[in-house]
Amino acid sequence: MLEHIFNIKLNGLLMSTKKLFETIDLETQTLSNRLAMAPMTRNRAHNEANAPTELHAEYYSQRASAGLILSEGSQISQQGMGYIDTAGIHNEEQVEGWKKVLDAVHDKGGVMYSQLWHVGRVSHAWFHDGEAPVSSTAQNAESQVFTPEGFQPTSTPRALSTEEVEVVVQDFRKAARNAIEAGFDGVQIHGANGYLVEQFLHDTINDRDDRYGGPIENRARFLFEVLDEVIDEVGTERSSLRLSPSNLMGSENDSESKALYEYVIRKLNDEYELAFLELVEPLADLGEHPQLAENVLDYYGEFYEGVLMTNGNYDREQAIEVVEEGKADLVSFARQFLANPDLPERFAQDAPLNEPDRDTFYGGDAEGYTDYPFLEEVEAAK
Ligand SMILES: Cc1cc2nc3c(=O)[nH]c(=O)nc-3n(C[C@H](O)[C@H](O)[C@H](O)COP(=O)(O)O)c2cc1C
Repeated sequence: MLEHIFNIKLNGLLMSTKKLFETIDLETQTLSNRLAMAPMTRNRAHNEANAPTELHAEYYSQRASAGLILSEGSQISQQGMGYIDTAGIHNEEQVEGWKKVLDAVHDKGGVMYSQLWHVGRVSHAWFHDGEAPVSSTAQNAESQVFTPEGFQPTSTPRALSTEEVEVVVQDFRKAARNAIEAGFDGVQIHGANGYLVEQFLHDTINDRDDRYGGPIENRARFLFEVLDEVIDEVGTERSSLRLSPSNLMGSENDSESKALYEYVIRKLNDEYELAFLELVEPLADLGEHPQLAENVLDYYGEFYEGVLMTNGNYDREQAIEVVEEGKADLVSFARQFLANPDLPERFAQDAPLNEPDRDTFYGGDAEGYTDYPFLEEVEAAK
């Protein structure tokens, strides 16, 4: 037993010489390590206002040893909501709820960004008083969303008018202001996984003929207008973006995916200085989609010049390696952080991990949320 503990400690010391466990300076704060908690929807805001609660404060503060925490996707408006009981960032109760979360996270020395989310057409009329959800298009996502009546097919959306697009851009701005008021250290625009930003970016969805449709520059206009407004509100040093350039969730991606995402990333290089850019690896088999980059980090990381976070199916060794090799500055973990509140310590010590329980990912209460044991508890129980 003693020898076991000694080995772990020794291992921990050895491993902590790896860059993954070293601090990194962002413009506004120093992160204690390069392991981030990825954004995760957990559907536990069970109240009329869809505000985070004490339980959210406990869950996030348990994970405050992450170099940086990204919040669950938080709808920027009622219009931006598509799943039951997701915590938003547009009304007063939500801002008050997030204040409690941020106080708890900051008390433990954590750093936390809010992920700003608009689902667009990945939604159901139930969330919109029986009206159609909105998108860049009027084509149905042909997907499923979880409503109070269980899983339902997505409702056919209504295409936003040109003027309405500007209103949504302003909703992002207001949500960013709310996030800072609630105490978040920064914001992340959710530009990944088939939601509204991708519904503008991808030509397999966007069928508009105004200035937000057609060539790449036009399809990317919505994203850059959102970025401009958010940055104007909270500063470039507190603004970040998540993209999933080889994503096949919610659409067939884009017919010229590499050209599209190269355009976006080069513009980020030339005109923006984000706190960081998070790139998600493909999470499913790409099948017959030769236009998509198989390895997002290798392909796009090559020419992104700013602080880069990578995500998707990493394990400890791979995370150590990409940071050590300088391919990425930060690595974010979703499922492993969900199940291991003390993930940085476990990785530093190369300790065993708790297994995530899929049945409690979405919805429910403390079970599978705040009851995953810390390493000391696991050791003490032996
Ligand atoms: C329960 C759960 C909820 C998720 N919710 C979000 C979300 O709100 N926003 C987002 O960008 N990605 C979301 N994701 C995707 C993760 O952030 C991440 O990209 C994915 O799980 C792959 O990372 P991993 O291999 O470390 O789990 C979610 C994933 C899981 C498992």
